[in-house]
Amino acid sequence: MSYYSRFVFPYIMERFSAGPNVDEQRRSTLAPAQGEVLEIGFGTGRNFSHYPSRETHVTAVDCEVLSPQQVKRRIAGAPVPVTTIYRNASNGLPFANNSFDTVVTTWTLCSIRDVIPALTEVRRVLRHDGSYLFLEHGGSDDPRVAQRQRVLIPIVRTIGAGCQMNRRIDDLVSRSDLRIRSLDRFVMPETPRILGEMYKGVAEQPRF
Ligand SMILES: C[S@@+](CC[C@H](N)C(=O)[O-])C[C@H]1O[C@@H](n2cnc3c(N)ncnc32)[C@H](O)[C@@H]1O
Repeated sequence: MSYYSRFVFPYIMERFSAGPNVDEQRRSTLAPAQGEVLEIGFGTGRNFSHYPSRETHVTAVDCEVLSPQQVKRRIAGAPVPVTTIYRNASNGLPFANNSFDTVVTTWTLCSIRDVIPALTEVRRVLRHDGSYLFLEHGGSDDPRVAQRQRVLIPIVRTIGAGCQMNRRIDDLVSRSDLRIRSLDRFVMPETPRILGEMYKGVAEQPRF
């Protein structure tokens, strides 16, 4: 892993994914989390303090070791026990089918290179009555913003350690055979518009 990925990118990520608006979105996204929780792409552990404390255990997966001391501090301050595992979610996760009540991703689907295999893993490990909670940024419905996203994607991908900011998150989730139960589209305040097109929702196993 490069020096940039390990030390510079976490700093940028902390700046862009912090503040009262973002914290409130994290809190409300994670509010329904319960039981055995899997978080994919935990980064520097910003979500850990926002989990509701009832009967939750969080297994947190990331493919990169980012700011390990900060992650340790955030685990120590979390209201729930957290276990971390370093894995590439696209290459298969070491968990049984139907083993999690809740799966969580926040600002992660933009940066997973092979995102469909990772979402297929979400579906595989999610219990039949479980919930996949997501809070992601992605492609804009506004043609002018979408055009700016297309033009600026090479720059953002370089600065953002692979971030593909114009992915249609709802399409990706549906293509992975997860059924979207609710979806909220909004623009994150105090964020550059190209990075603030939000997809917040809940998905579940398809019903046959
Ligand atoms: C933009 S950061 C978001 C971090 C955190 N979820 C948050 O809300 O602050 C995306 C994270 O996804 C991780 N990631 C990217 N590809 C991954 C993969 N294939 N498997 C697991 N984690 C991955 C990155 O290492 C990074 O920590």
